[in-house]
Amino acid sequence: MDADNASEFPAILDICFGTDRQSKIAYRFRDGVPPCDRFCLVAHAFGELIGGIQYWPCRVNGVDARLLGPIAVLPAWRGRGAARALVNQSLDMVAEAGVDLVVLIGDAALYRQYGFIPASAQGLFIADENPERVQIRPLTPAGAAASGEVAVAGKVPA
Ligand SMILES: CC(C)(COP(=O)(O)OP(=O)(O)OC[C@H]1O[C@@H](n2cnc3c(N)ncnc32)[C@H](O)[C@@H]1OP(=O)(O)O)[C@@H](O)C(=O)NCCC(=O)NCCS
Repeated sequence: MDADNASEFPAILDICFGTDRQSKIAYRFRDGVPPCDRFCLVAHAFGELIGGIQYWPCRVNGVDARLLGPIAVLPAWRGRGAARALVNQSLDMVAEAGVDLVVLIGDAALYRQYGFIPASAQGLFIADENPERVQIRPLTPAGAAASGEVAVAGKVPA
C-alpha cells in the first residue's frame, strides 16, 4: 500500500466499520505501530480506491506472526470477489516471506474458506477478546505448534 492509498484507506474504514472503530481490541496491535506495508494490498475500480487489507506485526510466545485486518470493501463493490482476491494474494505473500502464523479477529464463517481455524483449538488467545472471534492460519510447523497469548510485537504480555 503506497502513501496515497494509505492516506485514503481510513475514509474507507470509516464507511465500513464506523468512526468509533478505533475502540476495537484489534487497535491495540496498531496503535503507534506501522503496518507491514509489503503485505498490505488495495483494490481499485475505475481508478478509485474501493478496498484494502492490512497486516500488523505480532508474536505468540516468540513465534513470528501477523495480525490480518482490517479488510474492507466499499458497499457498492461487495459480492464481486474483491475481498477474496485481497485475502488470497496477501496470504500468499505472507507465506512466501516465511511468517509462521496469521491471526485475526473476525467471524469464523467468513474466514474458514481461507483456511483459518479457531485460535482456541490451538490454545491461542487475545486478552479481553471473545475467543470465538479469534481465528488463526498456521503457515509453518512453528506456527502450528504456537500457543498462548497473541502479543503486540516488541511488547511482552503483562
Ligand atoms: C467482509 C467484506 C470485506 C467482504 O468483501 P467482498 O468483496 O464482498 O467479499 P467477496 O465478494 O470477495 O466474497 C468472498 C466470499 O466471502 C463470502 N462472504 C462475504 N462476506 C461474508 C460474511 N460477512 N460472512 C460470511 N461470508 C462472507 C462471500 O459470500 C463469498 O463467498 P462465495 O463466493 O462462496 O459466495 C465486506 O463485506 C466488508 O468490507 N464488510 C465490512 C467490513 C468487514 O466486516 N470486514 C471484515 C471484518 S472481520
